[in-house]
Amino acid sequence: MPTPATSTAPRDARRIDGPGWSVVEGDAGSVLASLADGSFDLCYLDPPFGTGRTFASAAGGFDDRCSSAAEFGALIRPWIRQIHRVLAAHGSILLHADWRHSHRLRLWLEEVFGEAGFVNHLVWSYGLGGSSPRRFARKHDDILYFAKGPDYHFIPPRVPASSARMKGMLKKATDVLSIPAINNMAHERCGWPTQKPLALLRMLIEACCPPGGRVLDPCMGSGTTLVAAIETGRRAFGVDASPAALEIALTRLTAVESPLSAVG
Ligand SMILES: C[S@@+](CC[C@H](N)C(=O)[O-])C[C@H]1O[C@@H](n2cnc3c(N)ncnc32)[C@H](O)[C@@H]1O
Repeated sequence: MPTPATSTAPRDARRIDGPGWSVVEGDAGSVLASLADGSFDLCYLDPPFGTGRTFASAAGGFDDRCSSAAEFGALIRPWIRQIHRVLAAHGSILLHADWRHSHRLRLWLEEVFGEAGFVNHLVWSYGLGGSSPRRFARKHDDILYFAKGPDYHFIPPRVPASSARMKGMLKKATDVLSIPAINNMAHERCGWPTQKPLALLRMLIEACCPPGGRVLDPCMGSGTTLVAAIETGRRAFGVDASPAALEIALTRLTAVESPLSAVG
């Protein structure tokens, strides 16, 4: 199967290609600039959230040092412009954020994708975590879904119905995705501090990327997006600035079976 990106990585970046996937160790901004126009069907971007913290674990981690909106914007806004360029006309972006910057990100996305590009403000309701005596407990992230043009790909996911009338049946998912965060004992946990659940990425990719299509993740961390893309018969291209993230993603990817492998 051809690798999904139709360009080379920048000279200082390390690139490894597998069956249907490629990973690059490098800066998202420079790698995005090296990718060809219109070469992806979907981009899922789960960047640092601007927490001002360092995320560390035995497996590795990263600095999320942007402590002001201005610093965060200076990092992310050029990425949004590049992502728009590398998406196909029917392509779309899913930008993962939290309460700190999701309101700004929606405006920054609108500047590039246009007001008409807005598709959904998804709420990922994850459940785990503590509570606070000072406010309602924060138990969700935001995923902003924008399309490059009107003919974007979307197949509504089906989830178990909750009403008594539809008990045991499936219904179309709403914009609130109730999927548990990965607990510390979960089999899929690989040690990367901000690892997202495969169930979330599988649902998003199956809904927003055509079968056989190309998925881009410029901040792939442990490679969850790429694993979900390959498992669901898509191709995937991931980037991360951290060598430790690349190693974790490689370990996960080499263990995944693609339904596409059999057809070459
Ligand atoms: C929120 S984590 C992504 C987690 C991922 N979705 C997963 O499931 O493991 C953000 C990632 O962005 C990476 N990162 C931070 N700055 C970057 C940059 N300039 N270029 C590429 N990756 C970067 C970090 O190393 C980190 O792995």
